[in-house]
Amino acid sequence: MARGVSCLRVFNFVMVTLLQLAQASDWNTVPRKTVSHSALKEVRRFSKPNVSNYTTLQLDEEEQVLYVGAREAVFALFMHDVTEEVKEAIVWDAPVEKKMECVQKGKNNQTDCFNYIRFLQTFNSTHLYICGTYAFQPRCTYIEVRNFTLNKAAMEDGKGKCPYDPAKSHTGLIVDGELYSATLNNFLGTEPVILRNLGHHYSMKTEYLASWLNEPNFVGSAYIQESANSEMGDDDKIYFFFSERAVEYDCYREQVVARVARVCKGDMGGARTLQKKWTTFLKARLLCSVPEQQLHFNKIQTVYTLNNSDWQSTVFFGIFQAQWADVDVSAICQYRIEDIQQAFNGPYKEYREQAQKWGQYSDKVPTPRPGACITNSHRLNGYNTSLELPDNTLNFAKKHPLMDDLVQPVGRRPVLIQKNVNYTQIVVDRVVAASGNQYNVLFIGTGAGWLHKAVMIGSHIHIIEELQLFEKAQPVESLVISKKKKLLFAGSQTHVVQVPFADCGKYRSCEDCILARDPYCVWTKWACTRMGALPKLPDVDQDVEFADISLCHRTPGDLKAENLTVVAGTNILLPCQLISNLAVPKWTFQQQELAHVPDANYEVRPKALLISDVGPQHSGSYRCYSEEKRERFLVGKYWLKVVSKPAMALESQAAASSLELAWLCVFVLGVVCFCLLGVVIYLNRKLKERLEKTAASKEAERVTVYPTERILPKELPKGTKFIPSQTSGTDEKLWESPSYYYSDGSLKIVPGHALCQNGSSPSHNGTANGIPGQPLPTAVQSPTRLNLANIRGANTNGYIRLQLGEEGVDPFSEELRKKLKQRQMLPDANPEESSV
Ligand SMILES: *[C@@H]1O[C@H](CO)[C@@H](O)[C@H](O)[C@H]1NC(C)=O
Ligand SMILES: *[C@@H]1O[C@H](CO)[C@@H](O)[C@H](O)[C@H]1NC(C)=O
Ligand SMILES: *[C@@H]1O[C@H](CO)[C@@H](O)[C@H](O)[C@H]1NC(C)=O
Ligand SMILES: *[C@@H]1O[C@H](CO)[C@@H](O)[C@H](O)[C@H]1NC(C)=O
Ligand SMILES: *[C@@H]1O[C@H](CO)[C@@H](O)[C@H](O)[C@H]1NC(C)=O
Ligand SMILES: *[C@@H]1O[C@H](CO)[C@@H](O)[C@H](O)[C@H]1NC(C)=O
Ligand SMILES: *[C@@H]1O[C@H](CO)[C@@H](O)[C@H](O)[C@H]1NC(C)=O
Ligand SMILES: *[C@@H]1O[C@H](CO)[C@@H](O)[C@H](O)[C@H]1NC(C)=O
Ligand SMILES: *[C@@H]1O[C@H](CO)[C@@H](O)[C@H](O)[C@H]1NC(C)=O
Repeated sequence: MARGVSCLRVFNFVMVTLLQLAQASDWNTVPRKTVSHSALKEVRRFSKPNVSNYTTLQLDEEEQVLYVGAREAVFALFMHDVTEEVKEAIVWDAPVEKKMECVQKGKNNQTDCFNYIRFLQTFNSTHLYICGTYAFQPRCTYIEVRNFTLNKAAMEDGKGKCPYDPAKSHTGLIVDGELYSATLNNFLGTEPVILRNLGHHYSMKTEYLASWLNEPNFVGSAYIQESANSEMGDDDKIYFFFSERAVEYDCYREQVVARVARVCKGDMGGARTLQKKWTTFLKARLLCSVPEQQLHFNKIQTVYTLNNSDWQSTVFFGIFQAQWADVDVSAICQYRIEDIQQAFNGPYKEYREQAQKWGQYSDKVPTPRPGACITNSHRLNGYNTSLELPDNTLNFAKKHPLMDDLVQPVGRRPVLIQKNVNYTQIVVDRVVAASGNQYNVLFIGTGAGWLHKAVMIGSHIHIIEELQLFEKAQPVESLVISKKKKLLFAGSQTHVVQVPFADCGKYRSCEDCILARDPYCVWTKWACTRMGALPKLPDVDQDVEFADISLCHRTPGDLKAENLTVVAGTNILLPCQLISNLAVPKWTFQQQELAHVPDANYEVRPKALLISDVGPQHSGSYRCYSEEKRERFLVGKYWLKVVSKPAMALESQAAASSLELAWLCVFVLGVVCFCLLGVVIYLNRKLKERLEKTAASKEAERVTVYPTERILPKELPKGTKFIPSQTSGTDEKLWESPSYYYSDGSLKIVPGHALCQNGSSPSHNGTANGIPGQPLPTAVQSPTRLNLANIRGANTNGYIRLQLGEEGVDPFSEELRKKLKQRQMLPDANPEESSV
């Protein structure tokens, strides 16, 4: 009863903090740039027809080969260009009878009953070791590297080395010819095991007890050579990372927690107790939480081990996922190896029968210490191997695999928390910047096929960019990097993709290059360049730490002003293309801050200035600055001239004119008509030619609305409406991101597919002669903030003009009209009359 009440209280508390969390907007770190699939540079993609699930990647930097394990196939790709296969692919399919057995056991012949390659690692200098699910009967064998052939004769049982179920997680690594693997050991997936196999030792495994492993989900493993220069004669260790159902908490009987476990490499099991079982298996809870809010991330997704010159400086980067109040949240926590060791050297946890509770074990601990590796002190006492350990030590070890101390992350909090994204994979590179300082650069794959590149600056994290690696939204399932060649490889269901660590060329100006804070990029007088690509130059600019753009000696006046003439009473939009997702627009009018001009007609929007109902007082010079980190950078310059008399006024005068004038008009009109006919015929022919030539020409997509005088009448021609074709989920979004640009001097309306209703996607894909100093087609609206469905439309770089006919003519117009009506557009305008 009391427990029920306290559980309820905890539940309430969690709900309250969830609400706070939902309000904490600073949780989302916005990637500075967004690069869509079509705008990726130097990208290489590999896939084969009829082959899917390119999940298992293994890079051999010396051989310069990327091995790829897919569904029933293995590829050897050239590391510098993955489109090139260096050896003929190996087909390794499960035989038909195995597939039939698999189907008979109730598995799906479309998804389960294939041979999914799940393990592929270098075994020795001549062989790779490979395991596949083999239609729910896992098998392993060797691949001879030189002629790239699979040794079918040496095929062995893959039980415990590879999962039965391709959807189940597993991890493993080969150390000195021995395979350490953690997976589910049987067909039903109910028996977890951490196993050592192959090699000269006999096989070793975990005790099959819930206190050892309880419905684990294995995500990573690491081999740390702790024997190196060890004064105490320590052993090397293998660490395993997983989530499992916790046993030690009262309230949440069902709670899942993240764990780190380890075994010692020299472990040979006990002589009587723990025979052929690990005597050194210990585990501890990995904490990744926001202390103020008592929010814990418990589902660990993956781990990357960053090792440096010595093992003591090893750090593990863990990705965690959670779902709170329907919001997907991902976090990255960083762990030091010494903190993990400390937990393993600390007190044990145990179940107290009387109190029916888990608590710290406080009685006397047997010697030698249970779970410890064999070290010099053991050897001095006559224990040369685990086989010689006394029974009381081994019995204790069997009963106490769990440590009492938690492993706290560095800084006691996540280094990054992102909402509305599922992080799936991470790799980390440590790079020396131009300043000589070292930075960790994180490459993080998402569940939707994007890559976030982030740099850690002190305890702060800056997301340099997000890249759309895969066009189809699908999880990034594996990431590997070549630190030497600065290349990243990603595997997914459909492709293998290769991209360089940095594409510095996308930063078109010094300011952009510096503000990027990309440790791989430096500004060299004329261009932003990849650091490794240069011989050591003294005269380079880079400031990862502070992004100080005063390093840039920009000469003013290299931006041409745009002259605009507008009829009084018109609404006008002056575009302002910002150089990054982090910038805000700042406008000046006649060298004065627009924010200080008391005029209700001005409305600053994220990508444009709207001046409604212009009057003569609005004539003058306008400038737009992209402001980022309190630094300003000119991106737009306009001269606005407001003419008081609309050209239409001439017509009314004409009405009062004489008969001769009327005849003259008829004559002139006749001539004009004749000319127009000619023009129409000519244009028609031209158009045909063009359509034949380039059906999908971008030119054809762009419809110039006011090509000649740039005079914007208040009313558009009757029945004509221009709307951004991708309607937004919320009204706000549409108007936050208006899509009107002057590119070649004319007003244009943006973009894509009219029927998509999933969020707007303003395109930065201005034309090359857009606003000077402007990075090119890098930005589409961030998928971290919007539904991914809109991205494809944004790639088209197209503009579309929609014409609405008479009411109710066709369902399509009707749909649009409805949408327009639903939307509150401008504070003062009814949607049908909006000037845009
Ligand atoms: C793909 O598989 C189908 C049937 O399994 C086969 O007919 C087709 O030839 C294959 N295509 C290629 C390119 O291998
Ligand atoms: C899977 O089974 C269904 C019916 O049981 C059959 O029609 C189909 O051809 C099978 N597909 C494959 C790939 O074997
Ligand atoms: C590598 O391992 C394979 C398989 O056990 C063995 O046949 C081969 O001789 C080994 N190569 C070397 C260089 O040890
Ligand atoms: C591949 O190489 C191994 C050893 O070098 C040899 O035994 C085997 O016959 C070769 N296989 C093929 C298909 O050439
Ligand atoms: C394999 O890829 C297909 C899509 O190509 C996907 O539906 C399936 O879930 C993948 N299977 C595994 C085990 O990853
Ligand atoms: C770091 O890791 C790599 C690959 O895992 C390994 O080859 C290397 O020996 C490790 N370095 C240290 C110092 O442990
Ligand atoms: C332990 O090993 C040392 C040297 O390797 C040997 O002298 C000693 O007899 C061994 N002790 C036992 C108990 O086997
Ligand atoms: C994250 O993953 C969950 C479960 O796989 C899925 O339901 C959800 O839509 C994903 N969220 C995002 C933002 O991709
Ligand atoms: C715009 O007008 C100003 C004077 O108002 C003139 O000096 C400038 O050359 C014009 N610029 C362009 C591009 O026509």
